[in-house]
Amino acid sequence: MRVAMIGTGYVGLVSGACFADFGHTVTCIDTNEAKIAGLREGKMPIFEPGLDVLVAKNVREQRLFFDTKAAEAVRNADAVFIAVGTPSRRGDGHADLTYVFAAAEEIAKLIDGFTVIVTKSTVPVGTGDEIEAIVHRVRPDADFAVVSNPEFLREGAAIDDFKHPDRVVVGSDDERARAVMQDLYRPLYLNETPIMFTDRRTSELTKYAGNAFLAMKITFINEIADLCEAVGANVQHVARGIGLDKRIGSKFLNASPGYGGSCFPKDTLALVTTARTANSPMTLVEATVTANDRRKKSMADRIVNALGGDAVGKTVGILGLTFKPNTDDMRDSPSLDIVPALLAAGAVVQAFDPEGMTEAASLLPGIALKDGAYDVADGADVLVILTEWDQFRALDLSRIKSAMRAPRLVDLRNIYKREEITRHGFDYFSIGRP
Ligand code: NAD
Ligand code: UGA
Repeated sequence: MRVAMIGTGYVGLVSGACFADFGHTVTCIDTNEAKIAGLREGKMPIFEPGLDVLVAKNVREQRLFFDTKAAEAVRNADAVFIAVGTPSRRGDGHADLTYVFAAAEEIAKLIDGFTVIVTKSTVPVGTGDEIEAIVHRVRPDADFAVVSNPEFLREGAAIDDFKHPDRVVVGSDDERARAVMQDLYRPLYLNETPIMFTDRRTSELTKYAGNAFLAMKITFINEIADLCEAVGANVQHVARGIGLDKRIGSKFLNASPGYGGSCFPKDTLALVTTARTANSPMTLVEATVTANDRRKKSMADRIVNALGGDAVGKTVGILGLTFKPNTDDMRDSPSLDIVPALLAAGAVVQAFDPEGMTEAASLLPGIALKDGAYDVADGADVLVILTEWDQFRALDLSRIKSAMRAPRLVDLRNIYKREEITRHGFDYFSIGRP
């Protein structure tokens, strides 16, 4: 099949490369000329494990192409995917659909013959109807169907998630469109991945419901972690104790400084807005949003408390700035709340992230970016593990201690055991553990 992917970001590039790897012919399109020029030279615009190799292979085998112009690829496509950003709209927090609608207008002008227009971007319920109306208005003669096919991949594990998903959701009542989608995902179908066909609105809402549920699950365990601290219990044991119940499940029960990233924060807000507009408020999700915002803001206080309540002139070393490991993405990362609060409290901040340094340099002015974990520890009064990159899991604690001004470790991801840290003479602060 021939696929045009409008938007070559985290989702567009990964989906495009994976569809090409399934054997389809894919053109990834982006208005960002530098991004496309780089991709044509083999330079990845994002850090995602395995993506460079997958892209290179499919370019070499002439199934994957990059372009700034959509015309030719869209004209020839069986399916045109919309994978542009849907950030939070300023003011009300609803999804900003400017890029989606602009893409729909452009696609409408270009399609030729029956074409399936697929929304892979996360879009509020009813967006498919609006795209359909745009295409009808721009091209009353066009033969097309608009399908919702939300993406469930996670950054850092994106290729595996795309190729081995728990399920694929397709929202469309159009039989021709369903047949095209079935052909596109046939390699997964053969692997017995459940492909769920439903109507478009249900599919659109399923994506938000999934993200909101996961955000709620994380927030739940974070509140249990606070309670554990108050009553002297261990959140990791509670998480295991409840996670072994198959009805609950063990995943997404890691207590943390709060969820971040390009999706949970914006998607929970958008769902809250959709629900309020429909006079059917999602009170659990509203509480989740509030609790998570509060949590991210409160993390700096924990660090200041570890310093004895006064951060003025103290040096805070931070390990990890991205919202999770294995990505360079800083969008809504907890570090964006924590670091400015530490600076405002009078601390000197020095930090290292394996892949997030370029972004951090522009988003977190006023901090010193260092070359690695041991440089960050150098002269620090407290060392904070903010993102659980693998390379921070087995630090040489003796070396860290001798580099620091005072041996204090704030482990916001619970990746160390208290006994091993205190054995090395550190003061140790973690989340929800005695
Ligand atoms: P992104 O910001 O990384 O990429 C979007 C790209 O679209 C940008 O490169 C931009 O230049 C391009 N673009 C915008 N308008 C365009 C147009 N008219 N023509 C061509 N290119 C255009 O965004 P992302 O993280 O890939 O997210 C895309 C969508 O997928 C969002 O709705 C998001 O919620 C959803 N999603 C993201 C993830 C994720 O892990 N990032 C996972 C699942 C779903
Ligand atoms: C999330 C979902 O997991 C994907 O299924 C979805 O496709 C995607 O959003 C999206 O819609 O964009 P992602 O944001 O890439 O994926 O990363 P996650 O692994 O879900 O982590 C999100 C945040 O939650 C991170 O800040 C992470 O540290 C935090 N988290 C995750 C916890 O605090 N505890 C956990 O147990 C799990």
